[in-house]
Amino acid sequence: MMPVSMVGRTGELAEFATAWARVAGGRPRTGRVVVTGGAGVGKSLLISAALADLAPRPVTVLTGTARVHTPAPYDWLAAVLSGRDTAGLPLPPDALAWLAQHPNTPRERYAPDALLRLAVRTVRALVGAGPAVLVVEDLHALDPASLNLVGELAAAPELPALLVVASRPAETAISPGLVAATLARLSGAPGAVRQHLGPLGRPEVAAVLGQVYPGRPVAPEAVDAVWRRTGGNPYQLVELLVAEHGEHLFDEAPAAELTGREIEVLSCLAAGMSNKQVARSLGISVRTVTVHVSNLLRKTGSASRTEAALWAVRRQLASPVRPG
Ligand SMILES: Nc1ncnc2c1ncn2[C@@H]1O[C@H](COP(=O)(O)OP(=O)(O)OP(=O)(O)O)[C@@H](O)[C@H]1O
Ligand SMILES: [Mg+2]
Repeated sequence: MMPVSMVGRTGELAEFATAWARVAGGRPRTGRVVVTGGAGVGKSLLISAALADLAPRPVTVLTGTARVHTPAPYDWLAAVLSGRDTAGLPLPPDALAWLAQHPNTPRERYAPDALLRLAVRTVRALVGAGPAVLVVEDLHALDPASLNLVGELAAAPELPALLVVASRPAETAISPGLVAATLARLSGAPGAVRQHLGPLGRPEVAAVLGQVYPGRPVAPEAVDAVWRRTGGNPYQLVELLVAEHGEHLFDEAPAAELTGREIEVLSCLAAGMSNKQVARSLGISVRTVTVHVSNLLRKTGSASRTEAALWAVRRQLASPVRPG
């Protein structure tokens, strides 16, 4: 399947553009955008789409993310420093080695608050005259030292940068208290932009289906079925479409093999009905519906009801039957 390009989120993109225009224009020099939302809701895609559109182009972009499996102190900064030329940084070599997580670094050398100050100094040096963008991905999974650093950066005066943070809700984090405090610190900064992403609506789901099946009108019933099955979560939506965009979806199983009753049941599935609703709608027993559905899955080569519904819609077999 072709990668799906972002749908919706136009308001959020506009807010990014405005926040960046302020920072790039120096009024004020520092900005923050905090993007929260559940797993797979589209935080990372939104941020990369927003970054791709920034005008003027940022002089520097520093991006770091959490190491979800083995968190270690200053993971965010270590990710930023990795592969970067660190020769000109105003840091004692052993502090740099520690912050960049070079192996075999003596750890007793610096007190935590001294290291924190050095970390802030490092980021300032990398940002330079800016304007820069600092991206903190997966804040909810970051180590406490990185969270402290992000909190300090949020409050750092005159840092010529837009600080962009993505996080799942604090209550799902390993250290919910620390994450909540850091998010509050970020959001409390003057001029901070807060974005909480929710699931996609029906029109956005329809737009995604339109991308995946170009040139084929997708019936509202199929959109509904997909929307209900995924709850509008983009990650689940993409997973579903990848799973169903395989050979099955374009197999030419002859429609003639379906009985009239099966076609009626299929239309009901495309309308997103449960077996019970189908039974009520067609005046047959739930048991009979179950038999029809399993025959339908076999005949259409579908792995699921949704796949069968999409199969029907592509062949324009799904007549607009509505639940109720
Ligand atoms: N608005 C959208 N339009 C189309 N596809 C989207 C949209 N938002 C997200 N997706 C797709 O859904 C999937 C999950 O998105 P993404 O990785 O951005 O979620 P996330 O919120 O960062 O998740 P996590 O909490 O796991 O980091 C990706 O394949 C992405 O391309
Ligand atoms: Mg993400």
